[in-house]
Amino acid sequence: MTRTDVLIIGSGIAALSTAYQLARFNINVTVVTKGGKKDSNSALAQGGISVALSREDNWRLHYKDTLMAGCYLNDEKAVERLVSLAPHTLLDFMGAGMNFDRNKKGDLLFGREAAHSLNRVIHAGGDATGLKAMEQLIINTDNNDNITFKLHEPVLDLIVKDGRCYGALTRDSKGSLHTYYAGSTVIASGGIGGLYPATTNDKTITGDSIALAYRAGCRLKNLEFVQFHPTMLTIDGHAYGLVSEAVRGAGALLINDKGERIMDGVHPMKELAPRDVVAREVYAHHLKGEQIYLDISAISDFKEKFPTVSGICEDHGVDLSNNLIPVAPGAHFHMGGIQATSEGVTNIKDLYAVGEAACTGVHGANRLASNSLLEGLVFGRLTADHILANPQSIKEAEYTMSGAVAENLPCKKEIRRKMMEFVGIVRHRGEIDKVIKWFDSFMPKGESDFVSLDYNKTDNEQAEIYNMLTTGKLIAEAAARRKDSIGAHCITD
Ligand code: SIN
Repeated sequence: MTRTDVLIIGSGIAALSTAYQLARFNINVTVVTKGGKKDSNSALAQGGISVALSREDNWRLHYKDTLMAGCYLNDEKAVERLVSLAPHTLLDFMGAGMNFDRNKKGDLLFGREAAHSLNRVIHAGGDATGLKAMEQLIINTDNNDNITFKLHEPVLDLIVKDGRCYGALTRDSKGSLHTYYAGSTVIASGGIGGLYPATTNDKTITGDSIALAYRAGCRLKNLEFVQFHPTMLTIDGHAYGLVSEAVRGAGALLINDKGERIMDGVHPMKELAPRDVVAREVYAHHLKGEQIYLDISAISDFKEKFPTVSGICEDHGVDLSNNLIPVAPGAHFHMGGIQATSEGVTNIKDLYAVGEAACTGVHGANRLASNSLLEGLVFGRLTADHILANPQSIKEAEYTMSGAVAENLPCKKEIRRKMMEFVGIVRHRGEIDKVIKWFDSFMPKGESDFVSLDYNKTDNEQAEIYNMLTTGKLIAEAAARRKDSIGAHCITD
């Protein structure tokens, strides 16, 4: 049993920004995570960080672009906080050691990505922004005695009684169960990409946070909005990694095997149309059996500008001298999640949610490119500030193991296939109920819902599959409730 002022679940940019800010004020923090320190979507993020720091820009333009990409379903106050606090937060991050790419004169370089009205995205190491940001945050948090990391230790359940969160139950890689009691608990464990067959997400990201929060009684929001990235390197139906939107921002074109541009006539911004529009178009061509390519011939010094993408291509036998990268869409980002304010406050006392796991409404129905690392940095800090202003003593409440057992669980491949078929890029009205029934068939015997399991009779792999079923069902139910297409939720008859 461990007692800690703040328990943070997850180890991406939102988790470590929150931890760093708390530890600066001598708060004792324990970070517990399912994988290693760099096993996060943040470390894989290529695109960059949007911030209105150039002379031509201001946060109101960033605000406008964020709302437009989100189909105006965004929470306007949350958007205003995100984009107006971005410049100061980024300057502070640079002050804490983070280096972004600059020209020879030392000025920041601003790149272009989809649905931005001007060049606003800053990068580090070309297309290695997420990795560089995580390396910096790991340095900053490793050097702090107030922070303890517990790696390869998934959270099985939150400990919640009478509307208050007391901490969490975990199991380490040797199979031992652990109880953590905390004054405040923060869920920052990312999204749901691993629920789909092709994803840009880290392999540890399988939608656990939604399932944990649901069982604890958290309000969830906008779960139907799953963003697919239009361009993953895809060979013979296998997806091998992201080809950043910054590649299209630098001039790459989407073409079919006859060399025709597929975005002509689809949207005025063509390759730089909002991500949901481009993903649907690429997907539609794939359904017709066409191979789609990114034609990179207009980009000089591709390998120097995009070292991560070049590495992924070379590792999988794509000869970049041909200037063609075969691509298809993959699950990328979840706009929905645990309903929370910009300060991470949820409906459960002393339980916070931040980053991709949370839904503050900031992304609306479709996230603007390069707003996610930003969200982790800005709202991570606001979450820490809220905890600092509302300190809670550590209290204990016994975790009672349920007797529920899940039998005959399906394999992950089957869950992913069903998710893509029924709640993928295009959903069919009337069909979604079929997959909801399929999910229901795996509920523990005698239960009317996905309840907590008996973890003495369930290993971590089974617990993960069970969480995938729970979260998958919740996404399908949300998709069935939203009758009209908007943003990333495209529904047809
Ligand atoms: C990308 O590099 O295309 C991804 C950027 C993002 O998701 O914001």
